[in-house]
Amino acid sequence: MSTQDETLSAVIDRILTLEIVRVTERAAVAAARQRGRGDERAADQAAVDAMRRELNRLPIDGTVVIGEGERDEAPMLFIGEKVGLGTGPKVDIALDPLEGTTICAKDLPNSLAVIAIAEAGSLLNAPDVYMDKIAVGPGYEPGIVDIDASPKANIEKLAKAKGVPANEITACVLDRPRHAKIIEEIRGMGASIRLIGDGDIAGVIHTTNFDETGIDIYMGVGGAPEGVLAAAALRCIGGQMQARLILDTDEKKERATRMGIKDHDRVYSMEDMAKGDVLFAATGVTDGNLLDGVRFGKSIIHTETLVMRSATQTVRTIRAEHRHFAKFH
Ligand code: FBP
Repeated sequence: MSTQDETLSAVIDRILTLEIVRVTERAAVAAARQRGRGDERAADQAAVDAMRRELNRLPIDGTVVIGEGERDEAPMLFIGEKVGLGTGPKVDIALDPLEGTTICAKDLPNSLAVIAIAEAGSLLNAPDVYMDKIAVGPGYEPGIVDIDASPKANIEKLAKAKGVPANEITACVLDRPRHAKIIEEIRGMGASIRLIGDGDIAGVIHTTNFDETGIDIYMGVGGAPEGVLAAAALRCIGGQMQARLILDTDEKKERATRMGIKDHDRVYSMEDMAKGDVLFAATGVTDGNLLDGVRFGKSIIHTETLVMRSATQTVRTIRAEHRHFAKFH
């Protein structure tokens, strides 16, 4: 291990245990103040501002490689933005300060503040376009999912590997008109579907814990940043994922090309999207299966955060009680 690697590893350890948690905690608390108020933009902006403020206190030389949009359309935390004190190791950052802006605005389950950090060059640098995704949790032989196979073929293969009939498989799919065909095909074969209104990072993570969530497989088209973040999470807990960017216009193709993507139809594996030593953290904004949302007590703010590292596959759930409210303004 080189000195640079040791330094990176030491910093990653420290970030893992505390610093990265603070980043998502602050973003989640800021978003939670806007919970249920019907204003998606205000909730997102609050989360973005808080996340950026905290990121800029970290001893890292960070670059946002996928996240809130590109410079002209996202006032902060745009793709390419430099974050951190600029003093530590060079790292890539994927982020979604408020995953599920609509759910937060409506105070529905599963909105999160999410971030992943890895060594520079390790996270997929891509525009915030749509991405086709398929994912399962741990315990299956490599190659169990194939994004180019039909939903039916994927479910049949999964059911066989799990040792259950196909009608005992549950797929999680975003409830969108674009998924009508997938939904029809899955239901047509007798399998069941958990339709979610929003929040496919949680949708993918739910495949890792069937006993809790009842979800075996995630399928369908969602955001690319959410895809990279979900891949980072699966690298830490185990599972398999494949994805493909949806570059269906010349403008999107050009944006992708500018970011160094040559093959516009490429199928990305989990490791292609998040390789090396990856840190992932998510704090609940609203209550969900994965995490409790922020609770505002009279004198204490409660948060719950999942923080994981791929190198050790350590998964920590950190419940925090915050008493110095001033830090959250
Ligand atoms: P936002 O936080 O940007 O609102 O994303 C919520 C979400 O449901 C994601 O989880 C998902 O990947 C994406 O939107 C799907 O996009 P769309 O709502 O345009 O179908």
